[in-house]
Amino acid sequence: MKKVLSFILISTFFIGFLASCGGSGSSDNSDKTSSNYTPNLENGKAVYDRACVACHMQGVAGAAALTDKARWEESAAKGLDTLHTHALKGYQGKYGVMLEKGSCADCSETDVYDAVAYILKEAGVEAK
Ligand code: HEC
Repeated sequence: MKKVLSFILISTFFIGFLASCGGSGSSDNSDKTSSNYTPNLENGKAVYDRACVACHMQGVAGAAALTDKARWEESAAKGLDTLHTHALKGYQGKYGVMLEKGSCADCSETDVYDAVAYILKEAGVEAK
């Protein structure tokens, strides 16, 4: 069972990696946030632990802590597409600066979206 799981995880990473490489420059991926994207929360946690935890665990430098439901509700009200864009491209808000992909250079778009999904789930917030 464990083997199967890690195989799925590895394939997911690999596909994500291929997608991000193939997409460089040419595709605009504007479709990614639409209903055909299903978050992979397991990958989201892995990405979060690697790339987002430094700021979003305790809430460093103006970032919302994972447990700060009020802040995530405020964010979620902007809509999931906006959160995706802000996490992907970076964003200067009233609390601080969210860096492009949280400065995770080797994170794919899907990695970032999965991490956002994981964060919202952990915070107990839903974004439309
Ligand atoms: C260097 C610190 C830092 C890292 C690392 C970081 N963030 Fe952030 N993030 C911030 C700050 C600061 C804000 C708040 C900006 C504001 O609203 O003023 C923020 C806000 C956000 C928001 C809300 C945006 C909005 O419009 O309200 C999302 C979603 C988010 N981060 C996702 C992520 C994800 C996913 C990762 C990991 C891939 C990540 N962040 C890594 C600092 C960071």
